[in-house]
Amino acid sequence: MLLEEKIKSKKPTESGKKVYIQSYGCQMNFADSEVVASILKKDGYTTTTKHSEADLILINTCSIREKAEQTVRKRVKDFKKTKKQNKDVVIGILGCMAERLKAKFIEEEKLVDIVVGPDAYRKLPELIQETFDGRKAVNVILSQEETYDNIEPVRLNSNGVNAFVSIMRGCDNMCSFCIVPFTRGRERSRNPQSILKEVKNLKKLGYKEVTLLGQNVDSYLWFGGGPKKDFLKIPLAKIKEKINFAELLELIATKNPEIRIRFSTSNPQDMKDHVLKTISKYKNICNYIHLPVQSGSSKILRLMNRGHTREWYLDLIKRVKKHIPDCGLSSDFITGFCGEEEEDHALTLSLMEIVKYNFSYMFYYSERPNTFAQRKLIDNVSEEIKKRRLQEIINLQQKHSLLKNQESIDKRYEILIEGVSKKSNEKFFGRNEQNTVVVVNKKNTNIGDFINVKIKDCTSATLIGEKI
Ligand code: SAH
Ligand code: F3S
Repeated sequence: MLLEEKIKSKKPTESGKKVYIQSYGCQMNFADSEVVASILKKDGYTTTTKHSEADLILINTCSIREKAEQTVRKRVKDFKKTKKQNKDVVIGILGCMAERLKAKFIEEEKLVDIVVGPDAYRKLPELIQETFDGRKAVNVILSQEETYDNIEPVRLNSNGVNAFVSIMRGCDNMCSFCIVPFTRGRERSRNPQSILKEVKNLKKLGYKEVTLLGQNVDSYLWFGGGPKKDFLKIPLAKIKEKINFAELLELIATKNPEIRIRFSTSNPQDMKDHVLKTISKYKNICNYIHLPVQSGSSKILRLMNRGHTREWYLDLIKRVKKHIPDCGLSSDFITGFCGEEEEDHALTLSLMEIVKYNFSYMFYYSERPNTFAQRKLIDNVSEEIKKRRLQEIINLQQKHSLLKNQESIDKRYEILIEGVSKKSNEKFFGRNEQNTVVVVNKKNTNIGDFINVKIKDCTSATLIGEKI
């Protein structure tokens, strides 16, 4: 067969090219997959939920903990069978593992054809093209700009009610345990006009709630583009406009009073009172903050390079409560970080007792390659102790979640109906401003409605409400 013929025979027919995208990890990855679907749509692809009928399989990967990487590798192996059945299917790895492992991923997993880092998705159509003559393709170049301005994401698995809108990329914080600054690069913010346009379009499509996404949203700063670290190098006279996170929130809230606004994630050290005042000022900005603390011990926080102490964080919680008395709060915790002793762990438990979070995401420490902790600190807490401490904070959190939910009984909330309850077909679920799930009867209610409810009962995970 002539080479050209071979190339043609491997190309999927122009009409009806199908892509199957599977996402792992953080919300940002799920949002990025929607950007990828949009880029590929322009290249003639539609999305499919069946990998067996796909011409292109993409896995958007996560590197945050070793376990996350193992899950992805298992999934990649599943596709061996698919590739046996359809040797022309192109398999691509996106996201943080692509960035971390680069071409090594292809050496290790032979069935993979392309490896594309989080800033190179615009190049996907070219990279796919390169694979049609049997080559492998890799692009993991990180960018200094918000790379996906003005791409209208294709909403995947959407309920038509909530959508993610990314507002910044990368992280400059360099927490010593975290791989994100290495896989997602330097911090850069998206043009507010393009954010406003995306929210306006979502509103037109009937969406009711947006979650503004970034690794460190409170650090958002638009000054004309480029990495945040360059901001101080630019003479003030040259900066035409400057918009910080509080101002961005205010812009979105005032222009879209009928849209509910959430955001994630806040790094405590970057959370300013201006943001708290803005949340309390606008009814449509939800009274809820995810404010990961990781540890309650100042010694561990210093080793983690978190930029604040236990006392400073507790003072921030006081300021949150002062400005937003009914604010829902959640956190992330890591147990068994390098050098964590029983007394540090006890300080984490005591911080939890003081704050009483509505819920938390809890993990045991997993050493990640090339991070400061991996290079300079000793991972000296045994897995057994890490897991025991994790179980203790999970148990305490469950107690607090139940307590917080019990405090909600007889209170009234506005909730946004998002879908059918997982446990009962007769019921809908929604969330209150504080981000707690509320289940209600379906009667006289539709998905996408804002309704007022009175809380009648609860479990540690869910409130049971009645429409009023
Ligand atoms: N700012 C980010 C944080 C990303 S990582 C965001 O947008 O969510 C999410 C959480 O994973 C962290 O808050 C931390 O609790 C946990 N985590 C990160 N690196 C970890 C590691 N090496 N081991 C265990 N947990 C980790
Ligand atoms: Fe990671 Fe810390 Fe940034 S947890 S994403 S380096 S704020």
